[in-house]
Amino acid sequence: MNEMKTKNLSFVILGGTGDLAKKKLIPSLFKLYRSDELGQFDVIGTSRKALSDSEYIRRVGTNINDQEGWDDFRRNIHFAKLNFYDSGDYRGLKEEMLGCSDNRLFYLATLPQHFDVITDNLAKHELVNERSKVLYEKPFGDDLSSAQELNDSIGDLFPENKIYRIDHYLDKELVGNLSIIRFSNSIVEPLLSSDFVDHVQIIASEDFGVEERGEFYDNYGAVKDFFQSHLLQLLSLVGMDSPDQLDARCIRDEKVKVLRNVKIQNTRLGQYRGYKEETGVAGDSETETLVAVEAEINNSRWDDVPFYLISGKNLVKKYAQIYIQFDQSGHETMVGEDGTVPNTFVTSIQPDRGIYFTINTKVPGRIETEPAKMEFCHACHHGPNTPSAYENLLVQAISGDQRSFVRYDEIEEQWKIVDGMDTPDPFIYEPGKVPGEISDFISGSDWHGLED
Ligand SMILES: NC(=O)c1ccc[n+]([C@@H]2O[C@H](COP(=O)([O-])OP(=O)(O)OC[C@H]3O[C@@H](n4cnc5c(N)ncnc54)[C@H](OP(=O)(O)O)[C@@H]3O)[C@@H](O)[C@H]2O)c1
Repeated sequence: MNEMKTKNLSFVILGGTGDLAKKKLIPSLFKLYRSDELGQFDVIGTSRKALSDSEYIRRVGTNINDQEGWDDFRRNIHFAKLNFYDSGDYRGLKEEMLGCSDNRLFYLATLPQHFDVITDNLAKHELVNERSKVLYEKPFGDDLSSAQELNDSIGDLFPENKIYRIDHYLDKELVGNLSIIRFSNSIVEPLLSSDFVDHVQIIASEDFGVEERGEFYDNYGAVKDFFQSHLLQLLSLVGMDSPDQLDARCIRDEKVKVLRNVKIQNTRLGQYRGYKEETGVAGDSETETLVAVEAEINNSRWDDVPFYLISGKNLVKKYAQIYIQFDQSGHETMVGEDGTVPNTFVTSIQPDRGIYFTINTKVPGRIETEPAKMEFCHACHHGPNTPSAYENLLVQAISGDQRSFVRYDEIEEQWKIVDGMDTPDPFIYEPGKVPGEISDFISGSDWHGLED
């Protein structure tokens, strides 16, 4: 039997009228409902606006394309007016929740400056009980000291096992698969070290700008928005040693060891032309929309292996990938012959999802080599409709699995890295092109796939 279905659920979205609630949370809950994974549930969305349940449902239903089952699902959606700063509104929420399950998930779908006051009020009004969990969206803080303060104040009220810091990249199918591939295959794991790896690239590029999120983005930028969270989490997953067990404590213990040893060697920042004219962006903004970093992990496994990380908006295409290139030395018999390429191990996270190795193979009829891909295609194997990151995240939070959530010390190490980075003035780059300023960033190699 599905473990989740045995539990009734109250799901409270604080920030229930926001973009995230409309685009991700309600559609993901609806998909879980349609795949019969939710059991009995109530969804309560909040905002400062005075909305009726039906007005609220209309707003959050705009991204539901296939409506089959929606009429039944939406009967479980309610609205509660709540200003984060008005203590009386939490009393109203508590009343709204009378009769709902005490298995409660509070999802803080809002900015970190509100986290403290919301947490305080949830505790003060005894909304969080033994069975509750509190989920915090990213970014968690905006530098080390604010993240530490948040950790301290939240930690004074709730134990760590109730606190779920979100990084939805960790819930993407192929990111989860990376650890499985690493720790269940003896032909992979022993090769991931400075003995065999030439360099690693971690790429998350987008082919669009800030869209409607200009005001938010201008306060954060690529370093605090993407690098601090997704890229450093991916780096820790590639760099970590095998955990004693695949449980939340052991996995997070290993990841944090990596983060403690990250040293940034080189940083370049860019801003796409036209960014300053975007809605919500300051006309003289110096905020970066692209960050490229060379980092090292100072431990015996990864000594001297460069990790190149990049994230940018308005580049050529939207994709995310971890590219590991192996050293060609040590097996020289045919290396250097025409057609030989370095071996690679690539995890493609989006939009194509899969894992492949590049190897050198024989050209038919000749003693020559040509590269071939050994590929695991996720969609070919599992079909196109495997769960989205937000569905996975919700399932894990509901079942109390913290493996794909970020622990307090990881987040602090991530901010420590960011606080210690150089912040050169951003160069201006043309939307839709790979900037020349980063084309020579990787010594002896190109950014894999960035220009295709
Ligand atoms: N949008 C995405 O795709 C996305 C993706 C990943 C992560 N995130 C993260 O998710 C969080 C939410 O993002 P978003 O894009 O949904 O933001 P948003 O569209 O600006 O929504 C913010 C929500 O917070 C509510 N709110 C703001 N101030 C409030 C106050 N004083 N009292 C009560 N409610 C208040 C707003 O409600 P009213 O204005 O109606 O009161 C709205 O429901 C952010 O931390 C963001 O970084 C978003």
